[in-house]
Amino acid sequence: MQSSSRMDRCRICGGTDLALFLDLGAMPPANALLKPEEIDLPEARYPLALCHCPKCHLVQLTYKVRAEVLFHNYFYFSSVSQRMTQHFAGVANDIATRFVTSNGLVVEIGSNDGILLRSLLGRCRILGIDPARNVVEHAIANGVPSIAAFFTEALAVEIRKQQGPAAALLANNVLAHIDDLDEVMRGVHQLLADDGVMVMEFPYVEDFLDHLEFDTVYHEHLSYFGVRPLTHLFARFGFEIFDVQRQSVHGGSIRIFGQRHGASHPIQPSVQELIELEMLRSEREPDRLIRFACDVVMLRNELRGLVAELQRAGKKVVGYTAPAKGVVLLNYCGFGPLDLEYTADATPAKQGLYCPGVRIPIRSPEYFRQDHPDYALLFAWNHKDEILEKEKAYRQSGGKFILPIPRVQVV
Ligand code: TMP
Ligand code: ZN
Repeated sequence: MQSSSRMDRCRICGGTDLALFLDLGAMPPANALLKPEEIDLPEARYPLALCHCPKCHLVQLTYKVRAEVLFHNYFYFSSVSQRMTQHFAGVANDIATRFVTSNGLVVEIGSNDGILLRSLLGRCRILGIDPARNVVEHAIANGVPSIAAFFTEALAVEIRKQQGPAAALLANNVLAHIDDLDEVMRGVHQLLADDGVMVMEFPYVEDFLDHLEFDTVYHEHLSYFGVRPLTHLFARFGFEIFDVQRQSVHGGSIRIFGQRHGASHPIQPSVQELIELEMLRSEREPDRLIRFACDVVMLRNELRGLVAELQRAGKKVVGYTAPAKGVVLLNYCGFGPLDLEYTADATPAKQGLYCPGVRIPIRSPEYFRQDHPDYALLFAWNHKDEILEKEKAYRQSGGKFILPIPRVQVV
């Protein structure tokens, strides 16, 4: 079977006029960090490009890579970020208070290490579902009942048989990773109580475009959603969105609240407001998308120019954090270990490994503090405030951070 294939139909509406607007070239899977013994071996690379569906306005990858190629190793532990931990505790509290009685069941799709569900322990019944076995083991160790599996219609039927319908079904930062959205919606249809709510959060395509967040494009990230394409998807399965909230996490996200068509929650004006905003912005398509692609090229040139200039001046530049978006940025800019000797990340499981493609080693923040390079290129710009605060001493003693997105900035 082929490892990658071109999308010829829109994942949501089936439209066939997908228009390519951004091509980042061939890239290794951004989460497949390399072990030391792997760095001399050849690596597989797959095309990474974005297209736009003029019918439902879903922005999506032009090529998809088989999930088996991508998910064999999973290093992302949500709880490394204190801000995300607080963010999800807030979400959990809000949902439990508004929508769930004490015996109600809350199921989370893509529950990771249990970062969100953990704060509902003792308040209601909870169940996490995540395909990554290693993070599920962590969740279970933290007391969060979890299943290591993909969320399918068959699994939904099984859960309902054993535990009854779900009062709330959550999916945070996971929908964009799922190829077969119809299968998820069939699962939701099976599992959700008649008056249950779906709460889903994902990076918002308007923020993605406005803030030049091209480094969030990687093979796992199949779709870049707005309210319009989701409305389309929901309607096909008898669901509707009744509320939308914009969030500042992950470079700008939205949280949507869905229910069965005509269920009890009144539809808030926020839904129509965002649909109108999206309509207004897309009046400028395709120019807006082409402009985005040009700005991406300019950002690469500027960042490469800055690093080269600093090196000529005898300054040492390294990386800070090793998220998937960092791997994309590094590969797209063509930086190697001669440009950035290492990158420092607080996730113990990442330390000692190498960024794919560019083979830059990952070290610990402690190593970074001892080494005290002149500049650190911050890949996880979405955690900027938390990281600048954590590395206050480095900055006070003359160290500087380079922020790449939405524009190159030295702070
Ligand atoms: P994310 O952008 O996908 O959330 O990944 C963030 C990465 O940054 C992850 O590898 C953990 C790392 N990180 C640190 O090294 N230090 C920090 O203080 C934070 C918040 C994240
Ligand atoms: Zn479409």
